[in-house]
Amino acid sequence: MPFALAPLAPALGAEISGIDLSHPLDDATAAAIRRALLDRQVLFFRDQVLTPARQVAFAATFGPVGTYPFAAPIAEHPQVIAIVKEPHQTANFGGIWHSDTPYLERPSAGSVLYALEVPETGGDTIWASTARAWETLSEGLRATLLPLRAVHSAARNKARLRTDPLTGGAMHGLAEDAMEAMEAIHPVVRRHPETGRAALYLSPAHTVRFEGWSEAESAPLLDYLFRHMTAEENTVRFRWTAGTVAIWDNRCTLHYPLNDYHGQRRALHRVTIEGERPKPAAP
Ligand code: SIN
Repeated sequence: MPFALAPLAPALGAEISGIDLSHPLDDATAAAIRRALLDRQVLFFRDQVLTPARQVAFAATFGPVGTYPFAAPIAEHPQVIAIVKEPHQTANFGGIWHSDTPYLERPSAGSVLYALEVPETGGDTIWASTARAWETLSEGLRATLLPLRAVHSAARNKARLRTDPLTGGAMHGLAEDAMEAMEAIHPVVRRHPETGRAALYLSPAHTVRFEGWSEAESAPLLDYLFRHMTAEENTVRFRWTAGTVAIWDNRCTLHYPLNDYHGQRRALHRVTIEGERPKPAAP
């Protein structure tokens, strides 16, 4: 490998060193990073200096770059959003366990986050491996879940997920009302399109119910699965430093940015990688 890789937790996560992302990557290095991401699900690169255009170019190493429906892009680049919490603000962007955009027919495949300014302490982000969560369920529960599909809504928990003004900009053309209409149904267990590995595909922030089940009927099993997915042994917690770049595979992870740094500023740039329609895992 043309870089050093240090795993951060058994379930997922690795820190990569020896790479400068401010220059285009050669094909061998790009391929090795893609393999590392498939293996470790979330990667971190410290001490980087990235323009918005270079961040987008790095994200394009992993697939077509898209946009995020609920935040206006920054002035310098149409595919970069700013995630900012000012010292006087109390809510943080995405401050609940979630997978990105499961309410779309084609949810994002991943995102690249670049830390511009971070609190002295606090503001860590936790990721969870939903592949490991799937693999550690009993045979009986796996057989029950395999044929199921789930309904995901953008409006679920919208008060905690809303982006305006936390992204530092106005809402995108799609207003909050549009959230109500954004709903998708996907398999509860999805097959990773590149590795074939199965993973639970549920998002505590967005999943409303199992298809064909009422919300009341779904809630106890969903609650159990959310707790299982985010159990400590399925997670890695990352302490940011300014200049860190993170990339995660949104097809087999959840993430949760902690909101424990009131009075301090935290600012990051995010770029989204387009994904495909989730395919069910085979029995
Ligand atoms: C996000 O959910 O994309 C934001 C993650 C973070 O702020 O750490």
